[in-house]
Amino acid sequence: MERPSPLLEVHGLTKRFGGVEALIDVDFAVGGHEVVALVGDNAAGKSTLARVLSGVVSPDAGRILFEGEPVVLSSAQQALRLGIATVFQETALCENLDVASNIFLGRERFTGGLLDEDEMEFLARDYLDRLGSRIPDVRVPLHRLTAGQRQCVAVARTLVTEPRLVILDEPTASMSISQTAEVLVHIERLRDMGLGVVYISHNLVDVHAVADRIEVLRHGRNNGSFDAYESTTEEVIAAITGASRIPLRR
Ligand SMILES: Nc1ncnc2c1ncn2[C@@H]1O[C@H](COP(=O)(O)OP(=O)(O)OP(=O)(O)O)[C@@H](O)[C@H]1O
Ligand SMILES: [Mg+2]
Repeated sequence: MERPSPLLEVHGLTKRFGGVEALIDVDFAVGGHEVVALVGDNAAGKSTLARVLSGVVSPDAGRILFEGEPVVLSSAQQALRLGIATVFQETALCENLDVASNIFLGRERFTGGLLDEDEMEFLARDYLDRLGSRIPDVRVPLHRLTAGQRQCVAVARTLVTEPRLVILDEPTASMSISQTAEVLVHIERLRDMGLGVVYISHNLVDVHAVADRIEVLRHGRNNGSFDAYESTTEEVIAAITGASRIPLRR
């Protein structure tokens, strides 16, 4: 299968927090229409890479190319303008607000100086449908939703910015099997829309189910790159734990 041209490429990315080397000389790429899983043990550097790509953490060294052009991701707003939207590991939604209000929180639509509730309701429904959501009503308050449905709202929030690339940092952490399955459908839908997706997860079964490529970080360094269709879970685990130390480039 021909590889899609990279939407985003990163070369030699390094980030230190005091004495902690969170990322060391990391290479990474994701194309449109592609789900790249980013895996690694706790503290491997996954969230740090997600934060750098989101413009909220600036790297100490390295080059970032977006659609082949060098970019400096100096702020979250700038990353969003380029089309990079992120659902962070610690994403918080407003429990007392409804689904549509959460999706448009901070990015409300106005007509003639007034909130355009109809427009936001229409668009919210459209985003949820495109993601394959089972949320029946966009006026339901968040506290009535399951964890899987809340994650869908968080993903739908990214669509408001019309992204090219969506980064999801552990969107299925502590979810039931059926809720996780819902989130995996949303990831597939994002890819079907032609977007690039970076999916950070500890669950290698989920990763193999949804990803096209799997990138392993270990102690802040690249430690393996796998075609998700041709690799085994054992190979990926070996790269995560360090049993296989030489990056496998395929
Ligand atoms: N703001 C920060 N200040 C200091 N150290 C940090 C900061 N952010 C991350 N680190 C450190 O960088 C390393 C990588 O952290 P990171 O959060 O990227 O790991 P991770 O792979 O996302 O782990 P997890 O699977 O637990 O989410 C860790 O040692 C962490 O303690
Ligand atoms: Mg993390």
